[in-house]
Amino acid sequence: MTTPYSVPEAHHLHPRYATEELRAREAEAEVAAEDLVYPLFITDRPGAREPIDAMPGQYRWSVDRLEEVVAPLVRKDLRAVLLFGVPTGHKDGRGSNADTPVVEAVRLLRKTLPDLQVITDVCLCAYTDHGHCGILKPDGTIDNEASIARLAEVATAYAEAGAHIVAPSDMMDGRVGAIKHALAVHGLGHVEVMSYAAKFASCFYGPFRDAAQSAPAFGDRRAYQLPPAARKLALDAVRRDIEEGADQVMVKPAGPYLDIIRETAEAVTVPVACYQVSGEYAMLHHAAAAGAFELRTAVMETLTGLRRAGAARLITYFAPRVLDWV
Ligand code: PBG
Ligand code: ZN
Repeated sequence: MTTPYSVPEAHHLHPRYATEELRAREAEAEVAAEDLVYPLFITDRPGAREPIDAMPGQYRWSVDRLEEVVAPLVRKDLRAVLLFGVPTGHKDGRGSNADTPVVEAVRLLRKTLPDLQVITDVCLCAYTDHGHCGILKPDGTIDNEASIARLAEVATAYAEAGAHIVAPSDMMDGRVGAIKHALAVHGLGHVEVMSYAAKFASCFYGPFRDAAQSAPAFGDRRAYQLPPAARKLALDAVRRDIEEGADQVMVKPAGPYLDIIRETAEAVTVPVACYQVSGEYAMLHHAAAAGAFELRTAVMETLTGLRRAGAARLITYFAPRVLDWV
């Protein structure tokens, strides 16, 4: 008979988390209302509150109804929104219509909710007839110079309307530098740039493209969004955007890229945001609806993981629910 193994005193960890109080003391990450950013889709159709089929519980709002959704959330301590325009009108090769309806939405929110931080997504895909994030050359490849010039114009228009932060999601080379330069030239140097720095080519954007009606008409975005397995390239993209003056950086999607969030948080000194994208939202929603788990517990666990990985700000479609839960 062998003598029973006796666990050394120092190996007893259960006593460190035996009660709710002890568990709270061991916790190193917390989800708070002030970290949340709520993405909103703005349509130019008046009087609209259009349900987005691919994202149950999310809507496209018209500017004239925007207050109806945002004001109650601000009363619950929501601090920031991220705006996406969904134009129904004319689209062309260079996204000529990219100012509306976001400019109107920014003006309204700044006037009616002065404490709310207004962030605007900056991209061309919802406004171009081909649905790509930049301007294309005749052969269908990206015209990087023309793209960043146009993106800088769009960012300037949002900043002029009163956006606190402009957030380029296009992934063109040098767009952060071009935007920072344009803002400075227009006396808008106080407006921050939150760059979608480590943005991967992801299937998890599928529901968003339904929401924003921004799917590419041909091809895909792999020539400008990052390859999912490319960790070092992603870190170079983050460093590059910081060098060009990014005031905040983002990792996107969030859940499948926790390692990138952690490494980015350790590599930079600016705030790191992460974007729990449309597909992550849909996945959690449908899994909970199918009985896999309780939605609240699952969402809070995913967000806690993002905070533990090092994210300062959480961009999530669950923000309105989380405000009730925290
Ligand atoms: C536009 C943009 C996308 C998302 C944010 N900005 C879609 C894409 O790049 O195809 C995705 C957000 C989401 O899925 O919730 N460039
Ligand atoms: Zn885009």
